[in-house]
Amino acid sequence: MLVVVTRKLPRAVEERMRALFDVELNATDRPLSQDELASAAARADVLVPTVTDRIDATVIERAGPRLRLLANFGVGVNHVDLRAAQARGIQVSNTPGVLTDATADIAMLLILAVTRRASAGERLLREGRFTGWTPTFHLGTSLRGKRLAVVGLGRIGQALARRARVFGLEIHYHNRQRVSRQTENELAASYEPDLDLLLAEADVVSLHCPLTPQTRHLFSSERLSRIRPSAYLVNTARGEIVDEAALAARLRSGGLAGAGLDVYEAEPEVHPDLLGLDNVVLLPHLGSATEEARLAMGQKVIQNISALAAGEPLPDTVLP
Ligand code: DGY
Repeated sequence: MLVVVTRKLPRAVEERMRALFDVELNATDRPLSQDELASAAARADVLVPTVTDRIDATVIERAGPRLRLLANFGVGVNHVDLRAAQARGIQVSNTPGVLTDATADIAMLLILAVTRRASAGERLLREGRFTGWTPTFHLGTSLRGKRLAVVGLGRIGQALARRARVFGLEIHYHNRQRVSRQTENELAASYEPDLDLLLAEADVVSLHCPLTPQTRHLFSSERLSRIRPSAYLVNTARGEIVDEAALAARLRSGGLAGAGLDVYEAEPEVHPDLLGLDNVVLLPHLGSATEEARLAMGQKVIQNISALAAGEPLPDTVLP
């Protein structure tokens, strides 16, 4: 069974794959072109893409008859044309659960960093502009008693809510479906079916929904205007959920107090207006970037491929 991996993976994962499968690794980590992805799909039994690969209908059309599984290294699968894969009978798996804590940590880090103006403070210090403590120097906003709006209370949204409660934030949420009473009670979370109403009352808004045709630009200019000017927006989900140009315009005009972003609409590009603003904290898609999470993601990929090889149901099926 030939497994083709599109990007460099943690060494222990690559070694295990080498021991288990006939595997083509990407030693240089150079991203594959669309043509190279198609040619990998044409010769592989299993293709292991990541979030940076666009597995579109053209790539899938060119897949060979051997291709049985797209074992994605990552939880989000918005970069895979699931409909095209389904039409060709190709299974798709992902790596849920193992990056929940790492991503929730980054969301909490962004909430703290943006409300306490940490990046701007560090910048001014490094630039030699710190002239000493004063009672009014570089004040931020405290979190205790403030309202956190979690948009998407899935695994990562819930993990963030647990962390946020420790900092004294009240949890309010919007989700396609209301979560169980037990989860609501555990998180002391209150459900708001109307997203616009949730936003109108929030002090911090944190996004945790998947990118789908329904959530692309869910945070349009119009929706961003529902958020109070004193509030902050944090996005660790997918950049395309927010209209980045509209966000930059609102931040610049004082329509929002600040934003903490880990993901961007046209990664690795970042809207130039955001780069010039002091009230934003910008991270380079670090949500799952811990040694532990990336190792566990690799183990999940291996488990899914092994299940396919053994003719067993895949543990993490996106598409059966
Ligand atoms: C994922 O797995 O979808 C993440 O975005 C990677 O950090």
